[in-house]
Parts: sequence; structure tokens; C-alpha cells
Amino acid sequence: MGPDERALLLDAFDSNWVAPLGPHVDAFERELAAAVGVAHAAALSSGTAALHLALLLVGVKPGDVVLTSTLTFAATANAITYAGAEPVFIDSDRVSWNMDPHLLAGELDALKARGKKPAAVLAVDLYGQCADWDPITEACARHDVPLIEDAAEALGATYKGKPAGAFGRMAAFSFNGNKIITTAGGGMLVSADEALVKRARFLATQARDPAPHYEHSHIGYNYRLSNLLAAVGRGQLRVLSERVRQRRANRAFYRDAFREVPGITFAPEAPYGESNGWLTVVNVAPAEFGATREDIRVHLESLDIEARPVWKPMHLQPVFRSARTVGGPVAASIFDTGLCLPSGSSLSADDRARVVEAVLSTPKRAKGAP
Ligand SMILES: Cc1ncc(COP(=O)(O)O)c(C=O)c1O
Repeated sequence: MGPDERALLLDAFDSNWVAPLGPHVDAFERELAAAVGVAHAAALSSGTAALHLALLLVGVKPGDVVLTSTLTFAATANAITYAGAEPVFIDSDRVSWNMDPHLLAGELDALKARGKKPAAVLAVDLYGQCADWDPITEACARHDVPLIEDAAEALGATYKGKPAGAFGRMAAFSFNGNKIITTAGGGMLVSADEALVKRARFLATQARDPAPHYEHSHIGYNYRLSNLLAAVGRGQLRVLSERVRQRRANRAFYRDAFREVPGITFAPEAPYGESNGWLTVVNVAPAEFGATREDIRVHLESLDIEARPVWKPMHLQPVFRSARTVGGPVAASIFDTGLCLPSGSSLSADDRARVVEAVLSTPKRAKGAP
């Protein structure tokens, strides 16, 4: 947090607009929409809330099928189940680790051949890198299936020069504490379609019909963002490009440091865009490095350095055991070998050097050991 966040928060506090609406909410919506080049935005209590509303707004109903990325955080798939629908998980490609557009197109064709159509496709921009939106958009358009972008991790990233959040009928951002900019908790739904965003605000405010008393003809949600948090978000938005620079600098540092180290490679950066660098993720080949990603993680933990395995794919999660999966081995192998290194915007050069030293000092297994 910096001085702008503090000044804006105090302004919100002093104005006494301590409510899930107010001038900072309106301004945050306008400013974020401008930053991502999308006409309309609704500030919400979380990215998960934004995904849930997006699914409802494209008409997802109980019993429907929604195709989604398997390699993601659980919130993506959870939102599908909140709408009463069933997720079908699509494997990653090796170019970006995002949803494989060929598998998606194949699944849409296969469903069509059986006379079926999913209610939506919800594709994720993983770890701050955009999915390959052109073929995904084309496949969805060909089958007339609404597309939603889960851009929770990707604010500040680009795809062919367009910002993350500009793809699909709607996109969701998250301002959870771990994201590239944060409001502690919060989210945003963005869309070029004003009617959808107005409807999102209506549903997020307990679906209150226009009447002097409390009149309701729909089930609503309490999903709006507090004016205090929106004030913090406005300050954070001003430093977004600096945060992207810092995060990408972390990655460049790690890349340089591990350049000559056998068995450590980096999550690929697809040629079609620029990642926001949210997290730096390495791939560990145990036979070459001499230790597994879990050996490294445990060793870092013993030195009080937090690193985390890549998201465990949704198709391997006990809670989604009965869900259908298209492919799966690519995401599963990324999970087996992928490790997210410390990637905070405030890491100093010394912090990063300490992480590198710790990774390199991981005790090696004897050759041939399991
Ligand atoms: C890919 C993805 N989707 C959705 C979410 C949900 O966002 P929130 O935590 O704001 O509900 C997150 C992060 O938390 C995420 O990483």
C-alpha cells in the first residue's frame, strides 16, 4: 500500500460513505473499465462473486454443462456449481498452460454431434498469462456458446496488444489479498454490454426492484464492494503498471539466476502476449536437478520461505471426482513438477537472492533413488 491508497481511504472514511456503494465505488468502476479498455464495470465483493453473476447473466441454469479450464484455482469451478451447473474440465496446452483451444473445439464438436450444447465456456488466464483467446473465441462463436473470461489473476496482462478482461461477453477480476493489486477482498465484472453490467449491479444488491419499499421479484445476492475498499482499489490501480514491472523483474531475476541450472525451467510465456508476471513458476525435472519440486518446497519451508505447488487441477480434486474431463495429463504433469516461487511486488534483490540460494542448496537425492 502506498500514500494514494491511504489518502483515498481516509477520504472515503471522512466522507462517511461507509457502505457497499458510494462515490469511490463509482469512480473505481470507471477507472478500472478505462484501464482495461472495456466500457462497463461493476465493483463486487470478490472475483468469485463476479464469476457467479457472469454465469447467471449468460443464462446458466441448474443441470447445465459449463466447459472450463482444469488448471485453475477452485473458485472458477465453484462458481459453476453455485449456478447449479456441472463443470466439464478441459486440459491445458503446453504453450501457455491455459485451456487447450483444440481440445475445447473438439469437445464442442463432439457435444454438437450428440445434439448437446454447453451453457457457457469459462476460460482462465492462468498465473497472469492470457489464454489463447482467438481460437477460443472462434470456437465459441461457431457453436453460439457464451464465453466468459476468468481474468482474476491477469489484470495488466495483454493478448495481441489487448488487455486481459477484454475477451468474452464478460470478464471477472479479483482484488483478493494475493493478487497483483488488492482491496483486501474484492472483484470486478467487466463487459462491453451495458445491460449485462446493470443487471449484475441489480443482482448484487439483493435484486431490489424499483419501488419505495423493498420489493423483490428475483433472488438477489449481497455482492457489492464497500466504498472504503473501492477507495483503496483506486489507489492500487494507479500503481498497477509499476506492480507489473516489479513482478516481471522478479521473473527476470530468477530466470537469470537459474539459466545454467539443469532441471529448472520456467512456465512458458506465449508469443501472443505479455504476462503481468503475477507469479513466477518453475518446472522442476527431478532427474536433472537431483530433487523434486516437493523436495525444494520443503527445503524452502525449513528456511522460512514460502513456495507453493502449482494449482492442483480441478479434475484431480476429490470434490470434482465425478466431473467429466477432456484430456488431463498435461495439467497433471504441470502440477507434479511446477512450483510457484516467492513473487511479491515488494521482494528486494536480497530476498530474491536468498530464494535462489535456498533452491540451489536443496539436498539432492542419490542417483537412482525414488
Ligand atoms: C483463477 C481465479 N479465479 C477466481 C478467483 C477468485 O477470486 P476471489 O478470491 O476474489 O473470489 C481467483 C483468486 O482468488 C483465481 O485465482
